[in-house]
Amino acid sequence: MPVNTPQHVAIIMDGNGRWARQRGMPRWRGHEAGAGAVRRATEAACRHGISCLTLYAFSSENWKRPAKEIHILFSLLRRYLVTERQALVDNGIRLTAFGRRDRLPAPVRQALCETEEATRRGGRLHLRLAVDYGARHEFIDAARALAWEAVRGIILPDQIDERSFERVLLSGTVPAPDLIIRTAGERRLSNFLLWQAAYAELYFCPKLWPDFDEGDFEAALADFRTRTRKFGSLSQAACAAG
Ligand code: IPE
Ligand code: IPE
Ligand code: MG
Repeated sequence: MPVNTPQHVAIIMDGNGRWARQRGMPRWRGHEAGAGAVRRATEAACRHGISCLTLYAFSSENWKRPAKEIHILFSLLRRYLVTERQALVDNGIRLTAFGRRDRLPAPVRQALCETEEATRRGGRLHLRLAVDYGARHEFIDAARALAWEAVRGIILPDQIDERSFERVLLSGTVPAPDLIIRTAGERRLSNFLLWQAAYAELYFCPKLWPDFDEGDFEAALADFRTRTRKFGSLSQAACAAG
């Protein structure tokens, strides 16, 4: 694996609707085509020795979309989880999802559980899907969990620190993403991993998600390799120069 390869890459998969509109198709055709890009990105992540790939599949704000589009998005997600299950197992990919489950259609919840269970031994790549995920909600849940711990006497309010906060976030023990890619030219995080993104490198790609291919993935990795990560400190060269 080349030096400076990110261990954890996260992607805000955006532009499916525009992709379809440009072709005079209904928006759902863009979401359907987006599934192909998911497959390509997963394969590319495996080939490049990345250990964790997080994909933003459905945000807590995406419920504001028309019911018909939401229905199709979840049908496609379920189809992906069922049809890709064996390939994920064969390729050593462990799939997990994070986000709220209580609002998901029951067949999607079931397909998620079954795919998580079937792939749990995968050791090559951890593929994480953010489904009905929003960072603000994640923070509120985390604050609530710590407040209950304080009420029960498990933790004192003054003991709450970054570590205890991370412990109750949905990401748990998964290290923060090194690189966050967003497609379709938008330059915002849209409520994605706001805590974990604190020191992530951001990469914005103009291509629409269904067109995102291995070359684009490699371009993002090449760009990452040019970045100097300092985490508030100084670069090694600056330290050495005094
Ligand atoms: C991303 O594509 C898919 C989801 C947000 C679920 P969009 O549906 O946001 O596509 P655009 O941004 O309208 O082109
Ligand atoms: C972000 O894309 C959510 C996902 C990719 C799942 P959106 O298309 O929903 O974001 P905004 O509305 O343009 O910020
Ligand atoms: Mg969008």
